[in-house]
Amino acid sequence: MAASETDQPEATIPLEVFRYRPEQGDEPTFEHYDVPYREDWVVLDALNHVKDQIDGTLSYRWSCRMGVCGSCGMMVNGEPKLTCAAFLRDYYPEVIRVEPLNYFPVIRDLVINMDDFLHKLTEVKAWLVPKEEKPVSQGEYLQTPAELAHYKQFSMCINCMLCYSACPVYGQHPEFLGPAAIALAQRYNLDSRDGAADARADVIFSDEGIWDCTFVGDCTRVCPKNVDPAGAIQQAKVAATKDWYRSVLVPWGNK
Ligand code: SF4
Ligand code: FES
Repeated sequence: MAASETDQPEATIPLEVFRYRPEQGDEPTFEHYDVPYREDWVVLDALNHVKDQIDGTLSYRWSCRMGVCGSCGMMVNGEPKLTCAAFLRDYYPEVIRVEPLNYFPVIRDLVINMDDFLHKLTEVKAWLVPKEEKPVSQGEYLQTPAELAHYKQFSMCINCMLCYSACPVYGQHPEFLGPAAIALAQRYNLDSRDGAADARADVIFSDEGIWDCTFVGDCTRVCPKNVDPAGAIQQAKVAATKDWYRSVLVPWGNK
């Protein structure tokens, strides 16, 4: 009797996974794993298979598995990707190489240190600073749909760091504020309820801010949420240039 379909060997796909265990004094290396190939599996499923079935010491971050938390960003065959949105079928049957995001210090295996970005978020005051404080009893700070549309795109950022890993300027010059921090500063600068644009200006208009950007545009290309950080940076450049002309032409005037 011919072998039934279930007797066929299971299709697999090869993974090359970056491993680094500094606490053991190890040098970085790549580990090879063959994992089951499934049409509906993403790279994160393959990593979970390795962790659950092959080597429980593999370290990486993930949470939502639906492109919302921003924690599963890694280099997949050299491209920054959310591993929960990178399907095995797009690589099969070729090898998939998984590495930590470019340009960040590695804590362990695929886990990067994001302290630099968190510090930059603080520097640009990436939060709403109300123009006017009013008692809660006076109700919400209302906005029109047009006012919301002004900044909504930039508010979709999930802090995944893919844009930083794609940015050649950040790769060469880590002092650069970088795409997401500037996009988030723009998000609040464009919010009709916010009053801290002047306080952010010194940081985002500095040499390490918008003027470091050479408009390669890879940040926007890899962004999984269509935030368009490159667009945010160019918008901020226009705003800075207008401010500068205004200060030259009308030095006594308000901004
Ligand atoms: S701008 Fe896009 S790529 Fe950059 S951190 Fe935000 S969501 Fe991620
Ligand atoms: S696991 Fe949350 S974005 Fe991928």
